[in-house]
Amino acid sequence: MQVNFSTVNFNSKSFEALQTNRYSTLKSVPTMNSNLKNVSFSGAFIKGMDLVKKSKFSPLEAARLSYQPKLPAVFKNGILALGITAGAATTAVADSDKIKELFPKTYGQPALTFDSSEKMSDAKPHKVGVILSGGQASGGHNVITGLYDALKGANPQTQVYGFLGGPKGLIDGKYIELTDDFVNDYRNQGGFDMIGSGRDKLEKEEQFESVLKNCKNMGIDAITIIGGDDSNTNAAMLAEWMAQKGEDIKVIGCPKTIDGDLKNAQIETSFGFDTATKTYSESVGNIERDMASSKKYWDFIKVMGRSASHVALEIALQTHPNMTLISEEVEAKNMTLGDVVNSIADSVVSRAKDGKNYGVIVITEGVIEFIPEFKSMISNLDKVLPEAEKDAQYISSSMDKKYEKIASALNEDASKLFKSLPSNIKTQLLTEKRDSHGNFPVSALETDKLLIEMVKTELAKRKEQGTYDGKFAALSQFCGYEGRAGLPSNFDADYCYSLGYSAATLINSGKTGYIASVSNLKETPDKWIAGGSPVTMMMNMEERNGKMKPVIQKALVDLNGPVFAEFAKNRENWMKEDSYVNPGPIQFFGPEEMCDKKTMTLALEQA
Ligand code: FBP
Repeated sequence: MQVNFSTVNFNSKSFEALQTNRYSTLKSVPTMNSNLKNVSFSGAFIKGMDLVKKSKFSPLEAARLSYQPKLPAVFKNGILALGITAGAATTAVADSDKIKELFPKTYGQPALTFDSSEKMSDAKPHKVGVILSGGQASGGHNVITGLYDALKGANPQTQVYGFLGGPKGLIDGKYIELTDDFVNDYRNQGGFDMIGSGRDKLEKEEQFESVLKNCKNMGIDAITIIGGDDSNTNAAMLAEWMAQKGEDIKVIGCPKTIDGDLKNAQIETSFGFDTATKTYSESVGNIERDMASSKKYWDFIKVMGRSASHVALEIALQTHPNMTLISEEVEAKNMTLGDVVNSIADSVVSRAKDGKNYGVIVITEGVIEFIPEFKSMISNLDKVLPEAEKDAQYISSSMDKKYEKIASALNEDASKLFKSLPSNIKTQLLTEKRDSHGNFPVSALETDKLLIEMVKTELAKRKEQGTYDGKFAALSQFCGYEGRAGLPSNFDADYCYSLGYSAATLINSGKTGYIASVSNLKETPDKWIAGGSPVTMMMNMEERNGKMKPVIQKALVDLNGPVFAEFAKNRENWMKEDSYVNPGPIQFFGPEEMCDKKTMTLALEQA
């Protein structure tokens, strides 16, 4: 392939400076853009590499430190040289009366778009706190650097504090002040290690009181919560609470999650989805190539996505595996665990008839909770298990005895299903703890292994019946945590930095209860539209831990939408043929079609 590079100039001086300062000043780092011509690997570069080796950064990490994220045109002169256009009053996506009643101060605010029509006057210094909340997603550091650069650019007196370890840091008042030296080490880097994250739920009166006390002590007038649907729900609750108390502390959210399920008419995608799906697609593409080479295994690849199957669907569109289990379809078709196993066995049998005793199956980690019989068993377990755990005899009994006790306490259907499961799954169901939002830790459940065992049994049965005479050897993989903290793709680096600017603009204009937004993402960043949307317009009432709660509505895969349609159109062919595609690793240097390529999900949804 002919790659079109422009100039990357690594000189020994800059690398020495980087080494001395541990990359603490970007002024020393050579500027690079993604559209490069003539990469010159000179002696100086090699010397630079030696220095890099001794430091905490890999050469690629070091190079990414100097990437300048692309911004929407409206931010080209910072966040003061712009105006705000407000739309009409908004309503909640469902249960609007109830949401209005629960959020009297922040409900109904208009959606906002930033434009370059007038100058914003407010350049007063702010004290802003920021937290990362929930699971890692590549680009989180860029939201913070975007926020930091935009606020400091508007007024260098502004101070930004990072609360440590997620919501808990905000509640306990554990923080660090962000400085140039500190944030520069995290530019365009993956992970959330700059300030850490956590899954504590911010919803109780005493927690809000602590947050208020800490903010007042520090003089903080705005908080940015970077998180998924649950965390942004918390942001809306905190914003409303502060407003009801008459406290001048604004709260702004930012849409994060690799699962891709925090999206709606206002949020086109959550950050981290692009990098995660590219990382997983690379692995799946490589595995497909291996399967097609050795022709002796079926690989069951479980991929992250707690509830929605957007991740699995995107991987399927990128890599064309033989089969992909989409949770939403399993639920819509009311499939039992037996039905799921049969559908996999059917594919294995069909390919075996063509002499292909190998293949690749992608499984969404959350699929098990979408199998209606499994879902009702888990909800029955949720009632039975806490009772059992109060009993000292149950606690001290062996695992086998625990299985028996639980099976006899469950209702008939749940008990039957529970008994049919392999011991490792039964143990996990009895021992894995739910998180503070009430989510079962599906990542920990060995769904891939469960399906392999059950498919093996089914195929053995079919062999006896004479309907199958192939060979079945299975492997399993988990595409999970490695997709959440890698170097952000150009898309996530640009999108997140722009979200940071949007959040800063919302803060600077005194808004609260908003989620920062950047849309028109199908276009190049200069054409992206920045703004903010009131969180309440994304909310509805849902049952959580047995109680109706206001929450942001999760976006599951739309089985009537264009992304699923594209998959459905091709899957029969992908099952039979070896139509595998290997997208390769995320690219940072080279032509735009490789480096700035967006997900197919985004392209199809925004077409
Ligand atoms: P968020 O919704 O907080 O972004 O996290 C999503 C996720 O990455 C899921 O895909 C996965 O099931 C879960 O986090 C794993 O959680 P944990 O990090 O607590 O093991």
